[in-house]
Amino acid sequence: MNEVLVSASVLSADFLRFADDIERVSAAGADQLHLDVMDGHFVPNLSFGAPVFKALKALKAKPALDAHFMVTNPMDYLQLCRDTGVKTMTVHAETCPHLHRCLGQIREAGMEAGAALNPATSPECLSYVGELLDFVLIMSVNPGFSGQKFIPAVLEKISWVRRKFGDRIRIGVDGGVNPETARLCREAGADVMIAATAIFGQSDYAAAVRALRGC
Ligand code: DX5
Ligand code: ZN
Repeated sequence: MNEVLVSASVLSADFLRFADDIERVSAAGADQLHLDVMDGHFVPNLSFGAPVFKALKALKAKPALDAHFMVTNPMDYLQLCRDTGVKTMTVHAETCPHLHRCLGQIREAGMEAGAALNPATSPECLSYVGELLDFVLIMSVNPGFSGQKFIPAVLEKISWVRRKFGDRIRIGVDGGVNPETARLCREAGADVMIAATAIFGQSDYAAAVRALRGC
C-alpha cells in the first residue's frame, strides 16, 4: 500500500486571505492543494479558473497542485495546467468520450493523468485505459459543492479499482471525506484523501490533516 496523501481542496479556503490560508495548510502538512474547476455546465456551480492558477503559480512555497476539472471541455485547460506546474490533471470520464486520447495528452504534457468518476459511473469504463492512468479520483458526492454527505456505495468502487490496477496507481476519494469516512476509504484501498470542509472548516489544520491521514 502506498503512503496516504492528503489533498486540501481550496474550494473552502478563505478567499479574502487566500495566500495566508494556503501557507497555513501547507505548514500543517497537506501534501497537495486540490483545485476544483467548475463551469456551471457539467456541474451546477462555478468556481475559479486561469486567474487563480496564475496567482498560485506566483506563490513560491506551496504543496503540489492537483487539479480536478468538473467542466465539459477539460482539455481546453491542458496548456494552463502545464504552464502552472500542475502535478496531476484529472478529467471526468463522463466528459471525455476519447478518454484514452485525453490521458495520453496529459502525460505527453509532462503531468500525471487522472480520471474522475461520478458516484453513478461504473469503474469499468477505465478497464482499457489502465496503462495511461496515474490516478483515479472516486467522487463520493455528486460534484459541484463542498460540504455534502459521503455516499458509502463508493467504497466498493474504490476496492474494485485497487484490485484491477494494483498499487501502481493512486486512488483519491473526494466529497464528504472526514476522519471517519477517510478510515473506511483507506481500508477500501484509497491513498489520497481529498477534503475541503474537514480541513478548512477546522481551527487546527495540522490536527485535521493528521486525522485524515490516519496517524
Ligand atoms: C466537490 C469537489 C470537492 C469538494 C470537497 O465537487 O470536487 O473537492 O471541495 O468538499 P468537502 O470535503 O467539503 O466534501
Ligand atoms: Zn474535487
